[in-house]
Amino acid sequence: MRATEAAAISSRHFIGKGDKNQADGAAVDAMRAFLATVNMRGVIVIGEGEKDDAPMLFNGEEVGNGEGPLCDIAVDPIDGTSLTAAGRQNALSVIAVADRGSMLDASSVFYMNKMVAGREAVGVCDIRLPIAENIRLLAKAKGKDIGEMVIAVLDRPRHQGLIEEIRAAGAGTRLLLDGDVAGGIHSAMYGSRIDMCVGTGGSPEGIVTTCAIKALSGFIQGVLAPKDEAEASRGVAAGLKLDHVYEADELVASNNTLFVATGVTDGGLVQGVRRKGPVIRTDSIILRSASGTIRRIQSDYSADRWS
Ligand code: FBP
Repeated sequence: MRATEAAAISSRHFIGKGDKNQADGAAVDAMRAFLATVNMRGVIVIGEGEKDDAPMLFNGEEVGNGEGPLCDIAVDPIDGTSLTAAGRQNALSVIAVADRGSMLDASSVFYMNKMVAGREAVGVCDIRLPIAENIRLLAKAKGKDIGEMVIAVLDRPRHQGLIEEIRAAGAGTRLLLDGDVAGGIHSAMYGSRIDMCVGTGGSPEGIVTTCAIKALSGFIQGVLAPKDEAEASRGVAAGLKLDHVYEADELVASNNTLFVATGVTDGGLVQGVRRKGPVIRTDSIILRSASGTIRRIQSDYSADRWS
């Protein structure tokens, strides 16, 4: 959590300033510096940045102080770099941790089609079914009318047909500008206004989300969605299965996961980082699958210790 807090604090100068790479770079540098102090022998399995040459903590990078547990790390120093640059809501700094060797390295195929929901969807929903059927099944399991169902989808041209199908089924959409990690987690949290998050987003974000979903006993399935033949071939060469529904335990084969997020900008999960006089305040959430707990932590830092 100190690492995601540091990333959020360091990115604060760039919120709303129009340059997403500067925001991401500040978050990456702060996160890397703090991860080096943590008692673990971590390896970054899921880095982020290949998509657009953004700054990154790269796959295979060793992090931690070289002592302590062996673990896989997935980082997303800012999920929602464009949101941050624009000053929009829902940008998060995120780290997920699981036992060494348990995270699927899906880095050779950037996009994944995902379906995420709460515990009521387990054994009920299936990404292979039409979306209308999944909405109907989930509504029944939750005891809700279909008209009350809210489905989060990234607002992208590729989702035009999906959005129409959701609306034709009678449900409402929550169109996300960016940030399907927050969208997925929201859909799995008890009492959330969002019932399900579907559509194609980043594969790294799929692994990160899975670590959180395990702590929430929720539902996630993913199907890799290569952009072209070349990416499909790279995926197969890396041992990935195309046209395969990855279940939660295949995405992260450990039930010992931690997910930490600190708000960069305000959102439904956590509030964004902000300075109030001599204090910089951060708001974080920690999900731990071993205990099934959700912890919320607010921290006040002395602003004079941070540049
Ligand atoms: P970045 O912060 O790296 O830009 O990712 C934001 C995000 O919206 C993710 O949450 C999502 O999985 C992915 O981008 C979707 O990719 P694209 O913007 O190419 O549709």
